[in-house]
Amino acid sequence: MTTESFTRMLPDVLTTADGEQITTVEQWQRKRRPEIVTLFREYVYGHESVQRPAALSFHTNVTQGLMGNRAIRKQVDIRYEGPGGQGVLRLLLFVPVGREKPAPAFLLVNNRGAEHTDPDRERRSPFWPAEWIVERGYAAAVINYTDLDPDEDDGFRNGVHGIFDEFEGSRPANAWGAIAAWAWGASRVMDYMETDPDVDVARVAVVGHSRGGKTALWAGALDERFAMVISNNSGCTGAALARGNRGETIKDINDRFPHWFNANYKRFNGREPDLPVDQHMLLSLIAPRPVYVSSATQDEWADPLSEFLSLIYAAPVYQLFGKHALGTERFPQPDTPIHGDRMGYHLRTGVHDLTEYDWEQFMDFADRYLK
Ligand code: GCU
Repeated sequence: MTTESFTRMLPDVLTTADGEQITTVEQWQRKRRPEIVTLFREYVYGHESVQRPAALSFHTNVTQGLMGNRAIRKQVDIRYEGPGGQGVLRLLLFVPVGREKPAPAFLLVNNRGAEHTDPDRERRSPFWPAEWIVERGYAAAVINYTDLDPDEDDGFRNGVHGIFDEFEGSRPANAWGAIAAWAWGASRVMDYMETDPDVDVARVAVVGHSRGGKTALWAGALDERFAMVISNNSGCTGAALARGNRGETIKDINDRFPHWFNANYKRFNGREPDLPVDQHMLLSLIAPRPVYVSSATQDEWADPLSEFLSLIYAAPVYQLFGKHALGTERFPQPDTPIHGDRMGYHLRTGVHDLTEYDWEQFMDFADRYLK
C-alpha cells in the first residue's frame, strides 16, 4: 500500500468532525484535541469510571545503599478505595543518589510478570534494566499491570472495574476496558510522583511493551503530566494504524482479548474503514511532547510499517506546534534509529520483545528532553 492511498483513507488529524480545518495551536487545544480524546473513549478504550479517587494514599518503604550505593529503593503502596472496595498498586522505584536536582524517571508498565521486576535485584532482566537506567541518571520506576486489573475476561468484576464501576443496569457499551484501567494506574503513579521530592514529576517518561505499549500510549495521551511517551512493539490498537490492513486486525484483538477495549469497539470488527479514529490520532494527542515508537523486524503481528506511518500521519500536529517531527517519511533500515524533533522511531532486528537495544535508544532520545 502506498502512502497516497493511506492519506485518502485515514481521518485527517487536523479536520474536526464537522469539517473545520485546524490551523492554530489554540484551535487544536480547545476543539480538536478534546474531540479526539472523546472519540477514543467512546469507540475504543472506554470512559474511565473515576479519575483521581478521593480515597488515595501512599505508603512508602525506603531502603538505602542499593546498587553499589548508587540508588535508594522506594516501595510504595498506592492504595485506593471506591464503592466496591479497596485496591493497591505496588510501585517499585530506584532513585539515583548524589544528585543536586530531582531525577527524571522512566515508568515501565510491566506486562510480563514479576520475575522482571525483582526488588532485590537477584534476578535481572533486560526487560527492565533498572541498574542501567539509574547509571544513566534516571529513576527507574515500574508497576505490574495485574495489580490494577487482572488480564482476563472476567466480566469486569475484578480489579479497578470492580472497585469503581457503579452502573445502573447493564454495563454501558462505552465503559472502560482493561487497557484504560492499566493507564489509569500509570496516572496514579504520577499522583504519587507529585509528592516525591526525589523525582521530577515534570520529567517522567511512560514506557510499555506490547499491551503495555498500548497502555503507555493511552496513559500519555490522557495525562499530560507525562513528559514523554514510549511505545515498544505496541501494534494493533497501539501505535499501528488499523487501516494498515496487515498483522493483527480489530477482529483478531477483540476476539482474543475482549476485555481490553470497550463494547463499542467490537462494532468495528472487519470494518476498519468505518472507525471514526485511527491510531495516528492517538499519537497526535501526545503533541508537542516527545513520542517514541519502536518496532521489530520479525514482529509482523504488530505491523512495523503501520507503526511507523502512524508517526508520519501524526506529524502535522507536531508541525502545528513548530516541531519538525521525524523529518523524513522514509521507512528506515533495521537498526538505524531516527531521532527527530520530538519524534523518534526505530526498527530493531529481531522478535517481539523489549531489549537492551530498545532501552539504549529510549535513553539516548530522552537525554535530549528530560536531562
Ligand atoms: C498478543 C496480542 C497483541 C499484544 C501482545 C502482547 O499478541 O495479539 O495485541 O500486543 O499479545 O501484549 O504481547
